[in-house]
Amino acid sequence: MPTLRGKVIAITGASSGIGEATAHLLADKGARLVLGARREDRLSAVVDGITATGGTATGVLTDVTRRADLRRLTDTAVEQYGRLDVLVSNAGTMAVSPFDELRQDDWDAMVSTHITGLLNGIGAALPVFRRQGSGHFVNVSSTAAHVVKSPQAVYAATKTAVNVLSEGLRQESGPDLSVTVVSPGFTHTEGVGKGASPEVSSAMTQMRDEIAMPPSAVASAIGYAIEQPAGVDINEIVVRPTVQA
Ligand SMILES: NC(=O)c1ccc[n+]([C@@H]2O[C@H](COP(=O)([O-])OP(=O)(O)OC[C@H]3O[C@@H](n4cnc5c(N)ncnc54)[C@H](OP(=O)(O)O)[C@@H]3O)[C@@H](O)[C@H]2O)c1
Repeated sequence: MPTLRGKVIAITGASSGIGEATAHLLADKGARLVLGARREDRLSAVVDGITATGGTATGVLTDVTRRADLRRLTDTAVEQYGRLDVLVSNAGTMAVSPFDELRQDDWDAMVSTHITGLLNGIGAALPVFRRQGSGHFVNVSSTAAHVVKSPQAVYAATKTAVNVLSEGLRQESGPDLSVTVVSPGFTHTEGVGKGASPEVSSAMTQMRDEIAMPPSAVASAIGYAIEQPAGVDINEIVVRPTVQA
């Protein structure tokens, strides 16, 4: 029976929401974690929560838009635990807005977090995985990559890029590596509506409060993909609340 026990797993965006829930679920199943995010206090709280209950986790301040930060995250896994089995690229921002508001800094942040951030993760982990002859990329996308809804076009475009990059990576990975895309629908996290234009933000948070699933649902999907035996690659999981259109 495949198990998560002892697996070394790095997670970006682990300071809240889906990343935090995934960290707790994987730690409970015995994985050894290296957790990255930018907010030091929130990241430390997650690490402390895991270690207080007997789990194994280390925090590394990480901004995924910076190549060196991802390198430090994967280096920490190798230095502390001797290997890296999985990189979960989860960091993200949902600062959506209509084009007419010209919130170009937010557009840039979505591009640099979801696209450059994912590429920085691939750049840091791929050489480690090749050296080991094994490794698993789990990339968090969104149902927005399947259904474009206004005013989420920039967000949807960057998540579509996550899917495209993941499929290309899968094709080049060969028999030893795995690549999984996990595409959540509405999930109850603080990130929904955060940084979005005020009207959009209040509509999104209202919708979240009415229909969202808990982040543990996405964490379970990620855990399922990682638990597969060698040679079996779950390529995409879409997980959304039953009521989501
Ligand atoms: N919630 C949903 O309905 C939903 C639906 C589909 C997909 N998603 C995706 O799920 C992922 C997690 O989002 P969430 O819902 O859990 O929201 P969240 O609670 O806001 O989590 C986002 C995480 O990403 C981190 N982050 C943001 N920018 C970063 C950067 N440049 N470098 C490193 N870390 C960064 C944040 O930590 P710091 O601020 O501390 O860095 C935080 O830990 C995102 O990719 C999001 O697009 C969410």
